[in-house]
Amino acid sequence: MGAVTDLPSARPLTRHLGAEICVDLSAEMDDGVFRAVYEAFLRYQVLLFPPQDLPPARQVALARRFGEVQVHVMNQYHADGYPELYRLSNLDASGKPSGQHPDKGTLAWHTDGSWQRVTGQATIIYGEVMPQSGGETHFCDMYGAYERLDPSWKARIAGLRAVHNLDFSRTRRHGEDPLTEAQRLAKPPVDHPIVRTHPQTGRKCLYLGDHAEYIQGMPYDEGRALIEELNALAVHADLTYEHRWKAGELLVWDNRCVMHRATPYDAATQGRVIRRCTVLGEIPS
Ligand SMILES: [Fe+2]
Repeated sequence: MGAVTDLPSARPLTRHLGAEICVDLSAEMDDGVFRAVYEAFLRYQVLLFPPQDLPPARQVALARRFGEVQVHVMNQYHADGYPELYRLSNLDASGKPSGQHPDKGTLAWHTDGSWQRVTGQATIIYGEVMPQSGGETHFCDMYGAYERLDPSWKARIAGLRAVHNLDFSRTRRHGEDPLTEAQRLAKPPVDHPIVRTHPQTGRKCLYLGDHAEYIQGMPYDEGRALIEELNALAVHADLTYEHRWKAGELLVWDNRCVMHRATPYDAATQGRVIRRCTVLGEIPS
């Protein structure tokens, strides 16, 4: 008989979402361990793996267990020769903080890849360098956000579709380094339901965030106002997990049922480098 592998157990980080799970990521997980990780991912929505050395190849291999890994349209961020990995860094060529925040768009609540037809399933981020303060990642639970809407809100948004547009959110939030013409043409705006049903848990959740620009069939300004109001209504302090990073940690989250944002840090004096990849999910319904 072969050795029985100990299955990892998850330690909840808050009452509603997030759990720490201790798994050695230096070698390929066997199927039983990965099943336990995936079950915890569906249950807790955000998973934290404790600090460890995770070479780029291992991060890509882990991501592939979840599904097809996205090659991001913004190829200026590709890292380490792996087009699946995307590095966000404020360090200059000599390794000193440059004062430039690499992606200000991440400071607003959003869900990764909502600007494409097949949206993000899991985002997998490894923290290479972390600032002493700030640069946190916050998550909020979109199942809970939907459940807490009153019946009149639920009736008002049932059947509505929002148009998500990377060019809109990037231009609005970032200001500099806009999408190139080719990047814009490659990722035209797409519409998704505001209320989606998670394909694996079957639970309903709110699906909006900062890439959502307007509502199909509604005057532009009215749709903008509705999106802003709902994005703000979605965030509840007790349905939020605020992660303060240690270098070497890995976070994995389910974009179908959480929104996330990064918090500011002093990019002129502190370094922050993360390595990210996004696993594709499905067309929301
Ligand atoms: Fe993000």
